[in-house]
Amino acid sequence: MKRIILTIVSLFPMLSWAASETPEATASIAIFIGRFHPLIVHLPIGLVSLLFLLELLSRFQKLAIAPNLLQILLWLSFGSSIASVVVGYLLSTSGDYDVELLSLHMYNAYVMSALILAALISFKIYLNKEKKIWQNSYSLFIYSSFVLLMVVGHYGGSLTHGATYLTEYAPWNKKAERKKITNINEALVFPDLILPILEKKCISCHNASKIKGGLRMDEYEKLIAGGEHKDVIVAGKPEDSDLYKLAILPKTEKRAMPPDGKVGLSNQELEIIYWWIEAGAANTQTVASLKPSPKTLQLLQQYFLPAENTSALEKIKVDAVTNEQLTDLRKKGVQAIRLGKDDQKLQVQFLEPSQTTNAELKNLSSIKNNVVYLDLARTAITNDGIKEIGAMKNLNKLYLQETKITDGASNVYGTFKQLEILNFYNTAITDKTLEALSACSTLKKIFLWKTATTKVGQDKLRKALPNLTIDIGLDSTKIIMQTDTLKKI
Ligand code: HEC
Repeated sequence: MKRIILTIVSLFPMLSWAASETPEATASIAIFIGRFHPLIVHLPIGLVSLLFLLELLSRFQKLAIAPNLLQILLWLSFGSSIASVVVGYLLSTSGDYDVELLSLHMYNAYVMSALILAALISFKIYLNKEKKIWQNSYSLFIYSSFVLLMVVGHYGGSLTHGATYLTEYAPWNKKAERKKITNINEALVFPDLILPILEKKCISCHNASKIKGGLRMDEYEKLIAGGEHKDVIVAGKPEDSDLYKLAILPKTEKRAMPPDGKVGLSNQELEIIYWWIEAGAANTQTVASLKPSPKTLQLLQQYFLPAENTSALEKIKVDAVTNEQLTDLRKKGVQAIRLGKDDQKLQVQFLEPSQTTNAELKNLSSIKNNVVYLDLARTAITNDGIKEIGAMKNLNKLYLQETKITDGASNVYGTFKQLEILNFYNTAITDKTLEALSACSTLKKIFLWKTATTKVGQDKLRKALPNLTIDIGLDSTKIIMQTDTLKKI
């Protein structure tokens, strides 16, 4: 069929050059012409509606209409609906449309064109024979063409705007907007977490009207059903799921998603999708019901409620650090990890905390501006060590739990202009340190469990820094997680 149509089209001198080129050129010229479809269809819409109106007027208002005029209108209606069908067919060869809707749209359009032709023939016979039956059959064909016009138009609209376009905002269709998540535990995994990610990076090509690869992602069931390949999502097995497999391919691979150099999924997004598939690719279960590990919870928290954890971090820009530098540090017992793949910001820990003294901190001088998380928990450092790290101007999280530090280090904290999280669990600090901290306006959370601080001192600090969360006694394994319950304390 495409061949026949293209042969006809190529009779037009302007287009013949392209149709005779390579198959790709033929395909693209087909789509080029196809895109005139939305323009052309307005002709039969107007003409058939006019014929319908004239028929009503002549029948019920006895309005006399010149038969010649009617004949012209009928020919124009038939011609323009055939043109629309042909051009529409070319458009459909792009393969971007919902097959079911497309065939409903197309077959109804064929029937409508046939009905207009039938009306034209009836009218001709009626003009010749002047028999009432032909007049009636003409009316019938015109009425039914008009009905079909509505049907065809509806499916056409659904094709371009999505099947729910018409009724989406109807008063009876109260599809509640998902409200913004405030507590990650209560978020529904697909609608709140996965869909928004896909909407950002994938759905522009995988939706109701553009169905690349036969795959739709705008609805859970459609995504699970898959596209041309059925294993888009293999619940429990991210490595076997095309959604994940194609998204982690290097950009140079032909099948990499998204194609054409479009911005792909970030590492965080990939990890979230990996977790989701591995946990069974659930739909409306809550995050809590899937029992994510603390690490996953933290990941979700950081991605979906970033203001809580990474606001200051995002703004920090630091000089480059080489991988050789990091390897050298490792030999000295320092584990320095980049926050992200190409990130220059580092998270630093010592491989053997109990062997780590103030002297070891000197090893960090070459990366002092890159360290944003510093974990000194359970090391043997003292107040003098804190003074040593005072030069780390980008420090964002500092873990000092179970060390020998005291109030003697309290005047150093004010030098960290990005400090948000500070952990003093099981140290000897007192209210004197808290007093010094009241000048650290960037602080968001401190841990004071098992310290010598008092409620009076804590309340004073709370007053000075109203946005600060003070943790005074929860399981220390929960200290990295930031949940609503913690906030209420
Ligand atoms: C610019 C348009 C575009 C964007 C954006 C896009 N895709 Fe695709 N996708 C395609 C095309 C085209 C195909 C068909 C490729 C083929 O058949 O080789 C496809 C096919 C797929 C398939 C295979 C479907 C099947 O059953 O064969 C998967 C899975 C997929 N895409 C995932 C994604 C993911 C995940 C994203 C977002 C990170 C994405 N796509 C974004 C255009 C796009």
